[in-house]
Amino acid sequence: MLLEAIIVCVSIVVGAIAYSKCLLCHIKYFYLGAAYHFHDVLNARYNKIDLPSKPDKVAIVTGGSRGIGAEVVKKLLQCDMEVIIACRTISAGEKLILEIRKSGITSGRAKVYKLDNSSLESVRGFAKQIKADYDQIHILINNAGIMFPRAYKNTEDGYEEQWAVNYLSHFLLTSLLLPLLNAGGRPGECSRIVNVTSCAHDLGTIDYDYIINCSKETFCTHASYGQSKLAQTTSTIILQRLLKDKSLNVLVYSVHPGVVRTDLFNEYALLGNNKWLMTMWKTPDRGATPIIYAAMSKDVERKGGICISNCKELAVPPLALKEEIQERLLELSLKQAHLKDLFQYL
Ligand SMILES: NC(=O)c1ccc[n+]([C@@H]2O[C@H](COP(=O)([O-])OP(=O)(O)OC[C@H]3O[C@@H](n4cnc5c(N)ncnc54)[C@H](OP(=O)(O)O)[C@@H]3O)[C@@H](O)[C@H]2O)c1
Repeated sequence: MLLEAIIVCVSIVVGAIAYSKCLLCHIKYFYLGAAYHFHDVLNARYNKIDLPSKPDKVAIVTGGSRGIGAEVVKKLLQCDMEVIIACRTISAGEKLILEIRKSGITSGRAKVYKLDNSSLESVRGFAKQIKADYDQIHILINNAGIMFPRAYKNTEDGYEEQWAVNYLSHFLLTSLLLPLLNAGGRPGECSRIVNVTSCAHDLGTIDYDYIINCSKETFCTHASYGQSKLAQTTSTIILQRLLKDKSLNVLVYSVHPGVVRTDLFNEYALLGNNKWLMTMWKTPDRGATPIIYAAMSKDVERKGGICISNCKELAVPPLALKEEIQERLLELSLKQAHLKDLFQYL
C-alpha cells in the first residue's frame, strides 16, 4: 500500500510538470482511477460468475480481438455459445481464436466479422452482414473503445473520435440490431445489451456545444472520454425505459469493468510507462467478469438499466438521471446517427 501511494504521488508530480495544459483533468482522472482501484480491491470477493452452458445462444462482442473484449469472448466460448468477434482487423480476431483453442478451450463456435467503430458506414455494413447471416442475437456487448488520444481526430462522419468510437457507433449498432435482439429474447429470458462504460462517467458532462463544434482548438481529450462514457451510461437508462414502454424482451446494462491492466492506458501520459503500478490492477480476465455477469446473470434479470461494477450495482452519476439531459442526448444521437427513431428497424 505504501509503495503504491509513493508511486501515485511521484507519477502525479512528473505528469503534472510534463502536461500542465490539462493539469486539473489529469489530477481528477488520477484520483478517480485510484478511488475505483480501491473499489475493485474492496469488492474483489463479489467479482465472481458462473459460466453455464448456453449452446443455443449467439453473442456479439465489439472490440473483441484484444484487451477486456478478448477475455469476454473467451468466457462466452466457455459457455458453449456462438461468439462473433467484431473487430477492425480480421487477422487479429482469427489469431485470438487460435490462441483460445491452444489454451484448451474447445467449446463454442467463434466467428470474426469486420467492424470499424469510427465509421457509421462500417457499422451499417456490419449490421447488414449479421442480419443476412442470423435471425436472432441474444447478447450484444458494446465494448470497443479508445481513451485519451493525444491529438484531435475527426472521423469520416465529422465527429470527435472518442465520441464516435465509444458512444455513437454503439448507439447506431444497437438500433440496427434491435430486431434480432428482440427475436432472441423471451419473457423471463430476455436478450441483453451490455454497454461497457467507465467510472470516467463520473467526470463527464454532456456539453452539446462541445460535441457539435469540437475542433483541434477546443479539444480536451479527458473531457471527450468522460463525455463519451457518460453518454453510454445515460443512453443505457434511456433505452431501457423505451424498451420497457414497448414491452420488448430486451434488457440493457452499463458496466464499469474496473481499473484494468490493458493497452487502453498506452496514451495516458501519467501511466504510460508505469507498468509497476498497473501490476496491482485487475487483470483483463477479472475486468471481463462483471461484463459476463451483466450479460448472463439471473440476479439482474429484472433490473435492466442499471450500472454494474464488480458484479454489484454501481450508482450512476446524477447527470445520467436528469430527464432533460436524457431527452437532448437521444435527440442529438438520433440526428448524428441519421436515424428517425431508435426503433425504426423493428
Ligand atoms: N481498462 C480499463 O481500466 C477500463 C476501465 C473502464 C472502462 N474500460 C472500457 O473497456 C472497454 C475495453 O477497453 P480495454 O481496456 O480492453 O482496451 P484495449 O485493450 O485498448 O482494447 C480496446 C478494444 O477496442 C477496439 N477498438 C478501438 N478502436 C476501434 C475502432 N475504431 N473500431 C473497432 N474497434 C476498435 C480495439 O481494437 P483494435 O485492436 O483494432 O485497436 C480493442 O479490441 C473500452 O470501452 C474502455 O473504455 C476500460
